[in-house]
Amino acid sequence: MRSLVLGGAGFIGLHLTRRLLADGHEVTVVDDFSRGRHDEELALVQQHERVHVVSADLTDPRSLDEVGHGHDHVYLLAAVVGVRNVERDPSRVIRVNTLSALNVLDWLHPGQRVFFASTSEVYAGGVAAGVVPVPTGEDVPVLVEDVGAPRFAYAISKLLGEAAFLHGATARGASAVIGRFHNVYGPRMGADHVIPEMLLRARDGEDPLTVWGAEQYRAFCFVDDAVEAVIRLMAAPGAAGRVVHIGDDTAETNIADLAKLVLRTTGATPDVVPAPAPTGSVARRCPDLSLLRELTGFEPETSLEEGVRRTWEWYAGWQR
Ligand SMILES: NC(=O)c1ccc[n+]([C@@H]2O[C@H](COP(=O)([O-])OP(=O)(O)OC[C@H]3O[C@@H](n4cnc5c(N)ncnc54)[C@H](O)[C@@H]3O)[C@@H](O)[C@H]2O)c1
Repeated sequence: MRSLVLGGAGFIGLHLTRRLLADGHEVTVVDDFSRGRHDEELALVQQHERVHVVSADLTDPRSLDEVGHGHDHVYLLAAVVGVRNVERDPSRVIRVNTLSALNVLDWLHPGQRVFFASTSEVYAGGVAAGVVPVPTGEDVPVLVEDVGAPRFAYAISKLLGEAAFLHGATARGASAVIGRFHNVYGPRMGADHVIPEMLLRARDGEDPLTVWGAEQYRAFCFVDDAVEAVIRLMAAPGAAGRVVHIGDDTAETNIADLAKLVLRTTGATPDVVPAPAPTGSVARRCPDLSLLRELTGFEPETSLEEGVRRTWEWYAGWQR
C-alpha cells in the first residue's frame, strides 16, 4: 500500500506515519512545518527506507505536483489548529484549512480513498445552546452561535472541508471518510493542549497550580487509539461517505480529577486553585462511538491513567 500523510510532521500525523510504516506501507509525508517540527523523532522516521518527506504548503495548488500519483490512501490532517491560533488569527484558519481541503480534493484520483480530519468543535455551538445532548452522536444538527466569533472560524472551516469531500470525492471516482476527532492527546503534541500543558506546569513547580475549567468534562483519547480508529475506518467498506467520531467514551473525566491524576503521575504536590474556563469552551464533551464500533469493531485500549503516564514519560525531559 502507498499512503500520503498531509500534515505528517504534526502530532497525529507522525504517530500515524509510524504506524503505517510498521504495517508495511510506503509513506509520503507532506508538511509546511508551520507547526510540525524537524525534530529527532521526525529525523528517525526519515531514516526509514519506505518514507519520503516533502516540505510544501498545501494552500498552493502546485504543491502536490512534487508528490506524484499512485497513493492508495490519502490522509488530510494538515490544518491550522489550536484555540490560541484560532483566537489570534481566525482569517488564517479559514484560508489555510479551506484552501488545503479544496486543493487536495481537486488533486484526488479515481480509486483513491481519502481521510479528512474534522473535529468535535463542530458541536460547540449546539452543546453551549443546550440543544445537543452529550454523549453526542454524528446525526445532531450543528449550530453556529456567532459567525463572527473567532472560535467558530475553525469549526466552519472543518465543516466546509467535510462537505467538500462528501460531495466531491465520489464525483472524482474516489471515496472519502470524515473523522471527527475528540480530544486526542499523547507524546509530541506541543505545549498548548490541556494534558501536556498541565504536566509541564506541574513539572516546572507551579505552586499553587491553577486549574482552568476545573468543573468541565472531557473524554480524552490516547493517540495510539485514535490512529487505530483511523486505520480501521480506512479499511472499512461501510465507512465510505460517512462522518464518524474518533475518541474514547470510556475516558470521560472531570478536569479537577485530571489535575489530581497529573499530580499523582508527576509526583508534584502544589496547592490546586480552580479557575474559570476560557470563554466559549463547552462544559462537557463526549462522543457517542456507536457508529465507529458498528463500522470497525474499534474499542479504546489505553486507559486515561496509562495514557497520561506514557505522555508524562515523553514530556518529563522535554525542552520547549
Ligand atoms: N489533536 C486533536 O485532539 C484534534 C482534535 C480535533 C481535530 N483534530 C484535527 O486533526 C488534524 C491533526 O491535528 P494535530 O493535533 O496533529 O495538529 P498539528 O498542528 O500537530 O498537525 C497539523 C500539521 O499540519 C501542518 N500544516 C498546517 N498548515 C499546512 C499547510 N498549509 N500545508 C502543509 N502542512 C500544513 C502543520 O505544520 C502541522 O504539522 C487537524 O486537521 C486537526 O484539525 C485534532
